[in-house]
Amino acid sequence: MPSISDDDDRDSVRTERREAAVSAFLQATPVIYRRDVAIHPRAAEWATQADTAPVCLFLTGAIGIGKTHTAWQATRQWLGTHITRTGRKPRIETWRSTALFDALRPDNHDWDVRTLTRQLQEADLLYIDDLAAARVSPTGWTQERLYEIFDERYINRRPCLITCDVLPGATANIVGDRVQSRLREMFRGGVLLLEGADRRAGDAA
Ligand SMILES: Nc1ncnc2c1ncn2[C@@H]1O[C@H](COP(=O)(O)OP(=O)(O)O)[C@@H](O)[C@H]1O
Ligand SMILES: [Mg+2]
Repeated sequence: MPSISDDDDRDSVRTERREAAVSAFLQATPVIYRRDVAIHPRAAEWATQADTAPVCLFLTGAIGIGKTHTAWQATRQWLGTHITRTGRKPRIETWRSTALFDALRPDNHDWDVRTLTRQLQEADLLYIDDLAAARVSPTGWTQERLYEIFDERYINRRPCLITCDVLPGATANIVGDRVQSRLREMFRGGVLLLEGADRRAGDAA
């Protein structure tokens, strides 16, 4: 049976690990999204992995409402929670959808698509920002890679966080019917509509 001091040691190791990981994540966060803001309670609930919280979170709402800021902050909190719970630093993948779809093209020169696909299947958390941003939808080949990624995550109940300015039912033309069907299941109970004014317009006034 572990003694109290073993528990204390373990807790302090976790605290140190958590603080180091959260601070490294903060450094890798785009500058405007580093500032702590009040996020929607349901996003905070997802980030603290409450038993009642869904595994996946789909943040939707109009452009400028605060989806991306909420997502970065929720991811930061999710990271801290994960380390406190498991003692292990999770692997988090953060991608703009446009960069992701480019990276998953057969003719891309920057990534080995097989390796990247595996990385995205196995990451502890996959965060894709602005799913509907691409002007041109991914081709059939890229949609097949998305299928491999999302099917693997779906069958293993691995967390995903998506921001998108259209509702989750309206992304079939982007991700393809097979992925769309998995997304519907993965994000059941985890769709959060952010409402209010365009915060960017407010800043400019
Ligand atoms: N809860 C918040 N409190 C204060 N400012 C916020 C909040 N959420 C977002 N912002 C700011 O509003 C602007 C738009 O937010 P952003 O997350 O980029 O919007 P979206 O991704 O929905 O288009 C950014 O400058 C962001 O820092
Ligand atoms: Mg955004």
